[in-house]
Amino acid sequence: MPTGTLAGRVAVITGAGRGLGAALAISLADAGCRPVLCGRSIANLTATQAVVRERTGIEPLLIALDLADAASVEAASRTIADGTDGVDILINNGAMWLEGRETPYSAEEVLGVVNAAVSGTFLLTQALLPALRRSACPDIVTIGSISGLPNAALQSVSVPFYAAKHAQAALADGFRQMLAGTPVRSITVHPPYLDDMLPGDEAWQASPQRAKGSRAGNRDVVEAVIFALTRPRSVTLSITLDADDGGLFPRQA
Ligand SMILES: NC(=O)c1ccc[n+]([C@@H]2O[C@H](COP(=O)([O-])OP(=O)(O)OC[C@H]3O[C@@H](n4cnc5c(N)ncnc54)[C@H](OP(=O)(O)O)[C@@H]3O)[C@@H](O)[C@H]2O)c1
Repeated sequence: MPTGTLAGRVAVITGAGRGLGAALAISLADAGCRPVLCGRSIANLTATQAVVRERTGIEPLLIALDLADAASVEAASRTIADGTDGVDILINNGAMWLEGRETPYSAEEVLGVVNAAVSGTFLLTQALLPALRRSACPDIVTIGSISGLPNAALQSVSVPFYAAKHAQAALADGFRQMLAGTPVRSITVHPPYLDDMLPGDEAWQASPQRAKGSRAGNRDVVEAVIFALTRPRSVTLSITLDADDGGLFPRQA
């Protein structure tokens, strides 16, 4: 399989039932990948599966996965290993959102945010490494956030989410070091605040014409991921997407 093409690659995507994860799954299938759709809501995954089937004729595998639950991560990893003959791409997209607020967070919220983004992402990646190592061109892609960058402003996010996204950036950097000298790349994309859109939407079609000052959208992240995946194998990208609206530096009043 040529390294610059996505055709035929098995791509595991977490949080694939909605939002950016669904946009990634549909776009990777459009590019010829065989997506494996993971997430908590089978109903949402089934909806993404139907879109992929209609657009490409590909029938993606659906895997129940709660990243905040170690037993679920273990079971999902086993099902993925049994249901595929190797994994070429793992997209660590799933993460629980928690907005900043004045009132205290429950233990469940804090543990959910940290365990989904950090513990669950680490355990899933670790469990899928043997399957990735069987690929001729294995890639791990971590969807971080501008909230996870050094010295990022807190903006509207909660401290647990901010900390979890910093830890996710550290996971990606740690994997890059751990896997140096092996064929596995650890790619990172840090999006700003995004407008939600899916391939086929009017907003998706219009997205490339957005003027400076507009918010970024899912399509911008998908294109950054595909760009990174299709670079020569000697190159590993860590991409920060920025925008004036919802970006790293809050706009001056
Ligand atoms: N939207 C933005 O403005 C923005 C900005 C920067 C970074 N990001 C990052 O982009 C990624 C995708 O987010 P999004 O934009 O689609 O919005 P989102 O509302 O933050 O979606 C989170 C995704 O993660 C999944 N998820 C949450 N908890 C999970 C768990 N315990 N186990 C498995 N999956 C879980 C959700 O699926 P279910 O709830 O259906 O299970 C959903 O697909 C996240 O990593 C997010 O932090 C988003």
